Amino acid sequence: MAVPLLDEEFRLWAEWIGEELGHRWGPERREILRTRLEPRRAALGLESFDALLFHLRFHPEREAERARLVPHLTNNESYFCRERGSLEVIRDEVLPELAGRLGAGGQARLLSAACAAGEEAYTLSILARESGFTGPGTLRVTGMDVDPAALDKAQAGVYGTHAFRGTDPGWRDRWFDPRGEEAWEVKPEVRAPVRFLPGNLVRDGWWNGLPPQHLVLCRNVMIYFDEAAVLKAAQGLWEALAPGGYLFLGHAESLRHVPVPFELQRRPGALFYRRPEEDA
Ligand SMILES: C[S@@+](CC[C@H](N)C(=O)[O-])C[C@H]1O[C@@H](n2cnc3c(N)ncnc32)[C@H](O)[C@@H]1O
Repeated sequence: MAVPLLDEEFRLWAEWIGEELGHRWGPERREILRTRLEPRRAALGLESFDALLFHLRFHPEREAERARLVPHLTNNESYFCRERGSLEVIRDEVLPELAGRLGAGGQARLLSAACAAGEEAYTLSILARESGFTGPGTLRVTGMDVDPAALDKAQAGVYGTHAFRGTDPGWRDRWFDPRGEEAWEVKPEVRAPVRFLPGNLVRDGWWNGLPPQHLVLCRNVMIYFDEAAVLKAAQGLWEALAPGGYLFLGHAESLRHVPVPFELQRRPGALFYRRPEEDA
């Protein structure tokens, strides 16, 4: 039987989601939240959403339950070669500049922060290969996301037609092997420089295990964040970047009101940020 999400429960859940994920969850999306929480409430046999929140805060197995719940609260929408304007700037300007700066044998380190099921990380791997980063150890691509189910899919590297809607079949067949009907697996040479890690953009220190990154894509995730979370994420992205490193956000995102001293750069069809070579 359907259980309602009461006013006070909704308030406490919105607060928990804000603390855990940085997401703003407005009252107009209350019914959506109820339907997202319902499968976990029902699976645990709990009588209310209040009891589910109590379980998440205090149960000895709360971490495992959190991992099961987070995929219900995230939107993993992504596809290969998304937002081509930015990818063209990366191909025509960023990767050539990095190749020149790093020299033969230097390693380009690229990060897809909030990588969903890996489409963006593998897109970066392909772009870098096409730009000549093919030698042993010359490329390291990291995909990071808070959603463990999305990371499992990224690791598997097998995609259906939906993930290829921004590309043509020639591109797909060049970089992916068919796996049965309407599924394709990323080729070994594209997969080899890519690894996936769990990480939460609104937690301190998610970047600690990473060497300084030359290029970070953090796209289509801050649209879900409240103001405090955008600031927290921007501070973390600054820490993750090497001096001189590049940051690309999604088209609908900006750091306009964020007091982190990135340099804004504009190109036709794209804008991006740089951490200056020398910190002020
Ligand atoms: C809409 S997808 C964007 C994927 C890809 N960056 C793109 O632009 O196509 C948003 C992703 O952000 C992840 N995400 C949401 N909140 C996050 C957080 N606090 N830290 C890290 N990842 C988060 C979600 O799990 C989801 O996979």
